[in-house]
Amino acid sequence: MSPSPLFAAPKGTRDILPGESRRFEKLVATFSDFAHRYGFGLIVSPLFEDVGVFHRGIGEQSDVARKEMYVFEDRSGRRLALRPEGTASVVRAFVQHHPVTPWKVWYLTPAFRYEQPQAGRYRQHHQLGVEALGTDDPTLDVEVITLAWRFYEAVGLRQISLMINSMGHRACREPYLELLRQHLETHEGELCDEHRALWRTNALRVLDCKQESCVGVTAPGPMLIDHVCEECRAHFQIVRDGLDSLGVTYSVNPRLVRGFDYYTRTTFEFVSGAMNSAQNAVGGGGRYDRLAEELGGDPTSGIGFGSGLERLMLALEAESIVALDDSSIDVFIVDTAGGQSSLVLVEALRAVGLSAERSYDQRSMKSQMKLADRSGARLALLIGPRERESDTVTIRDLRGTDEAQRQHSVALLDATATVLQLLTK
Ligand code: HAM
Repeated sequence: MSPSPLFAAPKGTRDILPGESRRFEKLVATFSDFAHRYGFGLIVSPLFEDVGVFHRGIGEQSDVARKEMYVFEDRSGRRLALRPEGTASVVRAFVQHHPVTPWKVWYLTPAFRYEQPQAGRYRQHHQLGVEALGTDDPTLDVEVITLAWRFYEAVGLRQISLMINSMGHRACREPYLELLRQHLETHEGELCDEHRALWRTNALRVLDCKQESCVGVTAPGPMLIDHVCEECRAHFQIVRDGLDSLGVTYSVNPRLVRGFDYYTRTTFEFVSGAMNSAQNAVGGGGRYDRLAEELGGDPTSGIGFGSGLERLMLALEAESIVALDDSSIDVFIVDTAGGQSSLVLVEALRAVGLSAERSYDQRSMKSQMKLADRSGARLALLIGPRERESDTVTIRDLRGTDEAQRQHSVALLDATATVLQLLTK
């Protein structure tokens, strides 16, 4: 038995190892493909920022800023924070670099939140996301939501539903907040412990609370969507019409206020019907028309979404989707003759674009064949003393059932061309 390790990954974090990481890679590749199709370029920015970027960005009163951010001082006394989400950093970069608008970027980023870890909720998770800045055209909202929708469809998820809402803009939200506060004050004693203490500082958060007591109070109360101004109502209607015309199905959820202060107008969330309801959001986002100003820039509208990779992988598992899991290779070389042949051959196969593997440490034929089987390779190339003597290779089809066709010998020099031929048959 190996001794227990001195260190393990920190609580709430996990290693994604080969096998599972194949799925991660394919999700990223599919997302990148969709992002490019929809006109988004990749942005890579620092994982830590001045803490002010997040305080001003996501709101000092948001749960994430109050309870979950990893804040630290560097050796020169700067107050920095690890990124808890991707949007604020993107908008900081937008304000810093003044790019031509509309500016459309996508990202893959780890995000750090000091949460109570459980399945689907981690202290480091990964997000795939997009942000588009520089226009408040509601048809862009439609495109952004549709990109997410098509991506989920492409990776095979079937039990995903989309909820949308409009949170209005700041001016129309104020009178609504007053109404909501009056309602909450009347029912203060019925709220959950956390929101009984907090409703005055951030009343919208109570709408987001999943506790039965808070749901009981807010369900019959005023809903923001009924109080947004004409302009916001018209914006929302165009978003709905656009989704309808592209065949994207959704339901309107007036409780969908989302966790960050930057949201205005359109908000949306994708949930998986195959997952445990506590952690079933696979992605979410919305419009943020004041964020650039909050971060010191000119008034600029933006919209985007983020999708949790770990949640996506759990959703795929919950729907038993294995299409993204294939990590098998094309060819495995079994070499019992020694010398350089297998090294040269594996390199030649890789040079023509095949995935090829061999074994090390001069293992026995039996043990190498086991590795070949386990690798999922379609073909094994055998080099034993007989093949070495005659400058040949024996090609064995590891998946073939017809014994007579299963194995044949070719000249070493022709091996790569023959393998290519067999694999494209
Ligand atoms: P968010 O809803 O906080 O939004 O996170 C986006 C997604 O990240 C969630 O739907 C979920 O799939 C995943 N996620 C969040 N927290 C965790 C966690 N602790 N463990 C595992 N997965 C998690 C945002 O972050 C916004 N920046 C999205 C956005 C982009 N809005 C506009 N643009």
